[in-house]
Amino acid sequence: MRKPIIAGNWKMHKTVEEGKHFINEIDGLVPNEADIDTVICAPFVHLPVLVDLVKEKPVAIGAQNMHFEEQGAFTGEVSPTMLKDLGVDYVILGHSERRQYFNDTDQTVNKKTKAAHQYGLVPIVCVGENLDQREGNQTKDVVKEQVTLAFDGLSAEQASQTVIAYEPVWAIGTGKSSSAEDANEVITYIRSVVSDQFGSEVADKVRIQYGGSVKPENIKEYMGQSDIDGALVGGASLKGDSFLQLLEGHKG
Ligand code: 13P
Repeated sequence: MRKPIIAGNWKMHKTVEEGKHFINEIDGLVPNEADIDTVICAPFVHLPVLVDLVKEKPVAIGAQNMHFEEQGAFTGEVSPTMLKDLGVDYVILGHSERRQYFNDTDQTVNKKTKAAHQYGLVPIVCVGENLDQREGNQTKDVVKEQVTLAFDGLSAEQASQTVIAYEPVWAIGTGKSSSAEDANEVITYIRSVVSDQFGSEVADKVRIQYGGSVKPENIKEYMGQSDIDGALVGGASLKGDSFLQLLEGHKG
């Protein structure tokens, strides 16, 4: 049995004060850690405060990106050791917005994925096709390439502990979500790609989320699918009550 994992991706939203308010709102209402992994992925400036606020709570904190080097002359970047040192547990890698606007490539995502494991962070590796690729029937080719390259050179243990987020680019922030059946079909295919690369034991363990216009109203449909293990949620993760409803929806 794979444990569900629901992660909020705040993207570039909220001041630190607003972040604190959010934690107050959800305090005491987050489901048990034995049933679900709850993650909040926040902008870097929030991380020390959030890590401190969620101590002893069933909530883990993630970053939204990082550099793959431990340190160096990389102005404006943040390293895996800095995140680990703060008590951050997760890091989103290769989000489509970073691929689109900040030059993340399958190669840098691979380096970052390896670095995350090296320094004890759980990577949430994002993959997904854009609208042209979808309409050109290239979805499976695109996600196969992204997953294969991101996972290249990982050990079986590291692969099984990597979280994949399937986020069709055309469904992000648009209100147009992939149907649960379509998302499950692609996610089942992604699991078969992992199986080809690392074997069925690893593929059975790896957790794969769906992301793209997930809301309290549709989360149960996704969580009810055979291969969808969770969700990576942008807009609907920003308000405490909405986030709590998403967590409740993990039962499918
Ligand atoms: P939305 O939930 O706002 O569509 O964003 C999805 C996403 O990109 C999460 O990483």
